[in-house]
Amino acid sequence: MATHFVIEGLKATIEEKEILKGIDIEIKGGEVHAIMGPNGTGKSTLASALMGHPKYEVTEGKALLDGEDLLEMEVDERARAGMFLAMQYPSEIAGVTNSDFLRSAINARRGEGNEVSLIKFIRQMEGKMKELEMNPEFAHRYLNEGFSGGEKKRNEILQMMLLDPKIVILDEVDSGLDIDALRIVAEGVNTMRTEDRGFLIITHYQRLLNYVKPDFVHVMMQGRIVKSGGPELAERLEKDGYDWIKEELGIVDETVGEQV
Ligand SMILES: Nc1ncnc2c1ncn2[C@@H]1O[C@H](COP(=O)(O)OP(=O)(O)OP(=O)(O)O)[C@@H](O)[C@H]1O
Ligand SMILES: [Mg+2]
Repeated sequence: MATHFVIEGLKATIEEKEILKGIDIEIKGGEVHAIMGPNGTGKSTLASALMGHPKYEVTEGKALLDGEDLLEMEVDERARAGMFLAMQYPSEIAGVTNSDFLRSAINARRGEGNEVSLIKFIRQMEGKMKELEMNPEFAHRYLNEGFSGGEKKRNEILQMMLLDPKIVILDEVDSGLDIDALRIVAEGVNTMRTEDRGFLIITHYQRLLNYVKPDFVHVMMQGRIVKSGGPELAERLEKDGYDWIKEELGIVDETVGEQV
């Protein structure tokens, strides 16, 4: 069955402050949805709330992955159900090697009694690292410690490729990538684009979308999707910025500020 992900009327607060004010998005398997929007409008909050980050309290709405309510699940259950987030600011974990981290993440996703064998894991990891043109040494370094900005992003894509998720959320995975790395990462995403997987790509720039063609582009302001369209919307934003949307909709301050 093709993947089907529905976010409905999602509201979330951080320390009692409402950041997400009712988000609706439907992603079918094979589709790529891009979310664009000015700084501080709630894009990363949406990603974190869907993954179950404890700082964000979902107060209303649903997030159904193939009919199952994610919001009822613990963080590890969401990963096991097939949710994956490449974070805007990937964390460093000293003392845990990249390869150990990846292997336990894969095993957590596969579930008890279904662990991947060490040999098979190493073969898969090395294969994917090669596709991403990563230096094999990165397998043995501590997770993200001392990685450059672009190296961290490439490493997030390595995790995505190995974890075989159903819904992939990429939060500014293109920021800090050099031109070649952008192409390599985009190719990685394109090979993963099958009908049992959907993508939500948060980005500020159209250039990633030149390589990974979105089916839908959504603009987020004030914790809401205020406009949706096709790839042409991203092109317009690149050319004209956000003012025209604000004028069209009568929005003065686009951030999730104190105003209502
Ligand atoms: N943990 C937190 N504690 C307090 N405020 C937060 C927290 N996380 C997010 N916010 C606030 O919520 C608002 C939305 O933040 P978010 O990170 O979702 O924005 P964004 O759209 O991803 O912006 P950017 O494009 O700059 O990444 C901001 O005003 C931010 O300061
Ligand atoms: Mg963000």
